[in-house]
Amino acid sequence: MDSTGSEGVGGTKDVVKRIFEDAMRSRGIFKNREVLNIDYIPENIPFREEQIKRLAGILSPVVKGVKPSNVFLYGKTGTGKTMVARYVAGVLERTLHDEKTKIAYVNCRQSGTVYRTLFEIGNVMGYSAPFTGISLSELQGRVLQHISSNGYRLTVILDEVDFLVNSPVKRDAGNDMLYQMTRFGSYEGGGSFISIIGISNDLRFKEYLDARVFSGLRDEEIFFPPYSVEELKVILRERVKEAFVEGAVSDEVINYIAARAGGEHGDARRAVDLLRVAGEIAEREGSDAITISHVEEAAASVERDKVKEAISSLPIHEKLVLLSVLSFEQPQNTGYIYLKYTEYCKALGVQPLTQRRISSIISELDVLGLLSAPVVNSGRYGRTKKVSSAVPREEALAHLKEDEAIKYLF
Ligand SMILES: Nc1ncnc2c1ncn2[C@@H]1O[C@H](COP(=O)(O)OP(=O)(O)OP(=O)(O)O)[C@@H](O)[C@H]1O
Ligand SMILES: [Mg+2]
Repeated sequence: MDSTGSEGVGGTKDVVKRIFEDAMRSRGIFKNREVLNIDYIPENIPFREEQIKRLAGILSPVVKGVKPSNVFLYGKTGTGKTMVARYVAGVLERTLHDEKTKIAYVNCRQSGTVYRTLFEIGNVMGYSAPFTGISLSELQGRVLQHISSNGYRLTVILDEVDFLVNSPVKRDAGNDMLYQMTRFGSYEGGGSFISIIGISNDLRFKEYLDARVFSGLRDEEIFFPPYSVEELKVILRERVKEAFVEGAVSDEVINYIAARAGGEHGDARRAVDLLRVAGEIAEREGSDAITISHVEEAAASVERDKVKEAISSLPIHEKLVLLSVLSFEQPQNTGYIYLKYTEYCKALGVQPLTQRRISSIISELDVLGLLSAPVVNSGRYGRTKKVSSAVPREEALAHLKEDEAIKYLF
């Protein structure tokens, strides 16, 4: 092989070679990068002692085969809800010596549909439902029947539970499933029960639920306040100690990350993400330490990922509304967007929702930060919303295109 590089100085080959040489020279700033993974649970969880103790107390009847109260964990994103629930459930699971008592964890956003959520609960309980071919209510009946006829005592963590009901399309089915589950213990004999740990960061969750379901889910509530910048610093310092070699992350960098992640509300996920991505950028550059500009670059990249995640987790009608908005170069009023939306529905052969529903979807997308929909006065038409994209158009389109169900529209 011609090591002088036939493409000449500064050719592609040289660039690639330099990347590998940099990587080789660097002594590596990571000591244990797993510590920065999103599902890593630290040994020591600062600032959540109260929430951990309360949740453990509420769940403690489980060890005697008695149904605990349903409990609802709420608080903004990145405040440790998932981590605390998994931590306490993990300890509980290791304490149990009884095969009738089961603990299941399901992330309702990741499972996507009510059907899939029930399917996963069934799976944990040893019931393999068919992927398709039976109706949702039939699946629900079978899973509940399986639990009761086996005398199982189930504690189920429904993480991001708002995703069972946050879209008009699945609202009724999600409510029904939750209703049946909250009622389960009261009519089944044989010691069988279902208790629910619901988790949500969505303040509008209550509006999506039937009142009786909402009250049934909240025998107890545990609030997770945002972290202060000072608390984020402590959390970061612990991670830095475990994840990086000494000297790779200065106090200045830790403080800067904490300030950025605490800017809106104290979000520990954002803090840990920034730390990880900044570390990866520094490593790629062959640098021995993370710099402020690495963190800035990481912030831009984390921001892009957030948009991607927000878009890809939208239900189909929400995606179609977003696509409709993006199809216009200029801000449009709701009427035009609705027309475009119905065209897309027709092209895909799906039943369009009503214009009122679409208006409320537009408001939801506004709250998510994907759309901007201020109310404006428009002469003789009175007050109307002017809707436009709140994220870069090309980027949003690229994420929408990844959806199998709607990619034919492109
Ligand atoms: N007190 C803490 N100590 C150490 N790490 C923490 C703490 N709280 C949160 N984290 C870390 O922050 C990240 C986010 O926490 P978690 O996933 O539990 O947030 P959440 O409240 O479930 O957010 P969301 O509502 O977005 O799901 C995780 O990586 C977790 O390890
Ligand atoms: Mg969570």
